[in-house]
Amino acid sequence: MTTIRPLSEALTGTSVDIPHGQSLLRVDGLTMRFGGNTAVDDVSFDVGRGELFAIIGPNGAGKTSIFNCMSGVYRPQAGDLTFLGESLLDVRPDDIARRGVSRMFQNIELFDNLTVLDNLMLGRHQHLSYGMLAGMVYVGRAKRTEVVNRRIVEDIIDFLEIESVRKFPVGMLPYGVKKRVELGRAMAMEPKLLLLDEPVAGMNVEETEDMARFILDIREELDLTMVLVEHDMGLVMDLADRVMVLDFGVQIALDTPDRVQRDPNVIQAYLGEGDEGPTLDDEAAAAEARSGQEARR
Ligand SMILES: Nc1ncnc2c1ncn2[C@@H]1O[C@H](COP(=O)(O)OP(=O)(O)OP(=O)(O)O)[C@@H](O)[C@H]1O
Ligand SMILES: [Mg+2]
Repeated sequence: MTTIRPLSEALTGTSVDIPHGQSLLRVDGLTMRFGGNTAVDDVSFDVGRGELFAIIGPNGAGKTSIFNCMSGVYRPQAGDLTFLGESLLDVRPDDIARRGVSRMFQNIELFDNLTVLDNLMLGRHQHLSYGMLAGMVYVGRAKRTEVVNRRIVEDIIDFLEIESVRKFPVGMLPYGVKKRVELGRAMAMEPKLLLLDEPVAGMNVEETEDMARFILDIREELDLTMVLVEHDMGLVMDLADRVMVLDFGVQIALDTPDRVQRDPNVIQAYLGEGDEGPTLDDEAAAAEARSGQEARR
C-alpha cells in the first residue's frame, strides 16, 4: 500500500529556483503568420513565477497559436520566447517539455485505447525515460525508475479523484473525465509552466466547477505558474491574476481582470462593428452552446 503524500513531494520537478513574481516566461515581439494571415502580431508579455496569466479573445484571435509557438509546434517568423532565461526558438517540442513546459490541449490528445494509468505513464516516459537501450542495459535502474514513475502517476490519479477509472480505456470515459485525465498527463510531466488551452470547454457546470477546483488546488500545492486560455469569462475573472486580450492577433489589453473588463478597447473588440458582435457576457453563452455541441458529439 502506498501512503498519501503531498503533491509537492511527488512532483519535485515542478519547483522553480527563482523568486516569486520574477519573470519565468518572456514573450517578446512574437509574430506568427500563415500566408497573408497574421495570427499573432508583435505580441509581448511576461509571466511571473507563480502567476496565473490568462489569454482571452474571440475565436481565431491567435491564442492557441501562441501556445503552439511556446511548445515548439510552430516556428514564429519574428520575436522571441524565453523560458527561465533561455530562448525556446529552435528547441524541439520534446525538449521544451523536458525543460518544464507542458500543456493541456484544446482538443483532447490522449490514447483512447489505453487505460488512464497507461496514458499518464506515457506522459512520464515520453519526457523522462532513459530510453530503450538504457532500459535494456540497466535493468535494475529501469525497474526502479518504473516503480518511481508508477507511484507518481498513482499520486496524480488520487489527487484528481479518478481512482475508480484508472484501469478504464480513456475512450470509454465521459468528456469531463477525459479532460481531467489530460490535466493529469500534463502534470505527469512535472511542469514548471502549465499551459491550459480551454480546460473547461464543452463541460457542464459541475464539471467546470471541479476543473476550477483542481486548477486552484494545483496552484496552491505546487505554486505552479500557469497560462490559461479560456472563453469562460467567469472562470478567467475568478482565477487569473492578469488577463491579456487579443483581437485578430493584436494585443489590445493587458491588466488585472477588473480593469480589463472595463477597458473600452476590450468592450469594443467584443462588440465588434456596430453592436451585433459578441460581448464578454456572450462568451459565457457561447461556452454553454459549445457545451451542448460537445454533448451531442
Ligand atoms: N496551422 C495553421 N495553418 C493556417 N492557419 C492557421 C493555423 N493555425 C492557426 N491558423 C489561423 O490563425 C488564426 C488564429 O488561430 P488560433 O487557433 O490561434 O485562434 P484561437 O484564438 O485559439 O481561436 P479559438 O478560440 O477558436 O480556439 C486563425 O485565423 C486560424 O485560422
Ligand atoms: Mg484555440
